[in-house]
Amino acid sequence: MARPFDSSTSGDGPPRRVIVTGFARGIGAAIAEAFAARGDQVVGLDRLADEAACTAARIGATAVECDLSEPDAVDRAMAEAIDRLDGVDVLVNNAGIFAIRPLLDISADDWDRMFDVNVRSMLLATQAGARAMIDGGTGGRIVNMASMGGKDGAAGQAHYAASKAAVISLTQVAAKELGPHGITVNSICPGYVLTDMGADTRTDEMVAEWSSLSPLGRCGEESDIADVALFLASRAASYLTGQAIDVSGGMCMR
Ligand code: NAI
Repeated sequence: MARPFDSSTSGDGPPRRVIVTGFARGIGAAIAEAFAARGDQVVGLDRLADEAACTAARIGATAVECDLSEPDAVDRAMAEAIDRLDGVDVLVNNAGIFAIRPLLDISADDWDRMFDVNVRSMLLATQAGARAMIDGGTGGRIVNMASMGGKDGAAGQAHYAASKAAVISLTQVAAKELGPHGITVNSICPGYVLTDMGADTRTDEMVAEWSSLSPLGRCGEESDIADVALFLASRAASYLTGQAIDVSGGMCMR
């Protein structure tokens, strides 16, 4: 059994080496910022080179440009990130895409694109990250971004919801296989967070309706998700693995 991974939610834990995918904006940027703020070394992967460079400069991280839908690009970018950090302690697989399309109109290409980005890239990044964690011998933490839709998909989201259910399943199997190496693997299931994702189809009426679904009466903020990612990478979450944690303000309770 590997030496237990040791870290803290507060700023007094040792600095960790953290890789965040999809970190140029939105939830990924908030997660990267939260880790950087506690003194961790952060490398972010994203296809949006300019936005990623701005985020990196703002929070004190570095960026690797990468289209995660390309398997070779994922391998190259993960190798570059691990090399820069001289290892990795925490991998946050956050990057994802979203689309609304009626079930009967989803093409094979739509389906493949959704799974290439949301699931296959996560498998490939996990393989690279986990190998480095195993080589390092001190365990590690992997946090995968799923969605409330992975448990309870909405109409019009068949390929997105199925990809996020796959993330939850991938998380469970990864937790079983990597646990003996001292690596925990958990997924986060956000509800509605008002980022650029889905902004093109979002109306004030929809936001009001979503907010009413939460007993807390609001949609999520990026920091709500970042706080849970930080927790999952902390010592307090040492005995937590294979879980799909809802961060939906109670919109989903299972
Ligand atoms: P966003 O669209 O604001 O940010 C996504 C980031 O991933 C962007 O920086 C984008 O460039 C990057 N990305 C996308 N495809 C990529 C690719 N092929 N290669 C490299 N980078 C790529 O989205 P948001 O809201 O921050 O979402 C982050 C994660 O949270 C996603 O996995 C999403 O499915 C999940 N999520 C979001 C919810 C929301 O309401 N915003 C709800 C549930 C889950």
